[in-house]
Amino acid sequence: MESKLEKDIVEALRKTGKALGFSELCLLTGLDESSAASALSSLSQKGLVSVSTRETRYAKLTGEGEYHSRNGLPERRLVKLILEKGGVMPLEEARKTYPDEAFFTIALGWLRRKAWGTIRAINGVPHIIVEKEPPESVDETVVRMLSTQGPLDASLLNTEAVRLLSGRGIVKVEEKVERLVSLTEAGRLVELKVAVTQLTPELLRTGEWRKVELKPYDVTADVEPLYPGKLHPLTEFIKEVKEIFTEMGFTEAKGPLVESCFWNFDALFTPQDHPAREMQDTFYLSHPSSTELVDRGLVERVRRTHKDGWETGSTGWGGEWSEEAAKRLVLRTHTTCVSVRYLYEHREPPVKVFSVDRVFRNERVSFKSLAEFHQIEGIIMDRSVTLRDLKGVLTEFYKKLGLEKVQFWPSYFPYTEPSMNSVVYVPQAGRWLELCGMGIFRPEVTKPLGIDYPVLAWGGGLERLLMLKLGVNDIRILYQNDLGWLRRVKLCP
Ligand code: PHE
Repeated sequence: MESKLEKDIVEALRKTGKALGFSELCLLTGLDESSAASALSSLSQKGLVSVSTRETRYAKLTGEGEYHSRNGLPERRLVKLILEKGGVMPLEEARKTYPDEAFFTIALGWLRRKAWGTIRAINGVPHIIVEKEPPESVDETVVRMLSTQGPLDASLLNTEAVRLLSGRGIVKVEEKVERLVSLTEAGRLVELKVAVTQLTPELLRTGEWRKVELKPYDVTADVEPLYPGKLHPLTEFIKEVKEIFTEMGFTEAKGPLVESCFWNFDALFTPQDHPAREMQDTFYLSHPSSTELVDRGLVERVRRTHKDGWETGSTGWGGEWSEEAAKRLVLRTHTTCVSVRYLYEHREPPVKVFSVDRVFRNERVSFKSLAEFHQIEGIIMDRSVTLRDLKGVLTEFYKKLGLEKVQFWPSYFPYTEPSMNSVVYVPQAGRWLELCGMGIFRPEVTKPLGIDYPVLAWGGGLERLLMLKLGVNDIRILYQNDLGWLRRVKLCP
């Protein structure tokens, strides 16, 4: 079964009835060189054509040759000059009047060699004598042909003329190796069947597709790498995580990047002397540096809870709680503040929300840490949810991310009780990664908001997981515009 191109080539060869040079073949079939080459290689594999090499000597004019082809060979110009003067002219006068001084001696030499004229002394003075206009000489013919037709196969030209002209620097002979394509015995006789490479609407409509031979795809053939436009792997992964949450029945919650300490820490029952609040860990804003806390009732309940536990059943942290400290603005250090804000506005169960968004920590940027990254966060509030539900939901969530092996262990956060941490096994990297922290919000968090139901909460970083999935060992590559990496990175690792 042959392709259309292969058929064209075989037919061109059959029509010409002889071997063809590669470039001639391209010209005849109208194919570009690379399609012709690939069709030829397929034809020769099938034994229909044979390709050999042919050395051709091409004659072409040199720069000087071009000049003479425009003005005539030097000896021809000399002959013309003498004939204009009646066929006899003193040699010295001819030298002076010859239009191209540099070629006079040469012209004279060839005039005598070609016997177009003679030199004789008249009254002791040498004269050039030309009897009649000589017909075009063989070398002139060659120059004329080369100037009108361009480089020519030297074997088609008068050998002696080519030799003399190249000796004079008028013609240059170059060797070219060319592929010569000829039909084999099989190629001459075989009946060609053209394979259909494209199933057209026409073929389908007429039912013709049943009769034609369809060319099978060669799925093993090498192709040029293709770099189509695609989303940044980070954007793609965020999309994937959001889709998983949505599939599991969660809706997305949003919150501000610049947050008060109140929502980032205090509402989460994080003591005001907690190390996470230190300048080294948290970015504080200078302009403006603080905000007003509007809900006085809420502020009061949070203050009491910190001080002595208020009605939460807790003893609180003791000491005085500073509203000034709570009013200070920070770049949020986690997305858990998005969750409490949401709860504050949605106090009735069921609540299932998530956020996948940016957070900031005052960290030195290195191959393993960024000062600005993303967190995955989720909460579930319902009448009777338990720690067991939390483990189940997390296991399900991880599974959808392709993380099948999970382990949990008891841990601590100021805002949850009980609290847990988890590790997941990342198959792409062949190692375990500590991923989400989680727990059930303490009454110290929920009661001041006016909530009496259990709230399951979890959160963790996104970039480290993506890094392992992509096999990247420097986290910063996710934020550099390294086009080479972006092109090569597989979106479906
Ligand atoms: N906020 C925690 C962190 O930044 C994660 C967490 C979220 C823990 C919710 C418990 C509950 O690591």
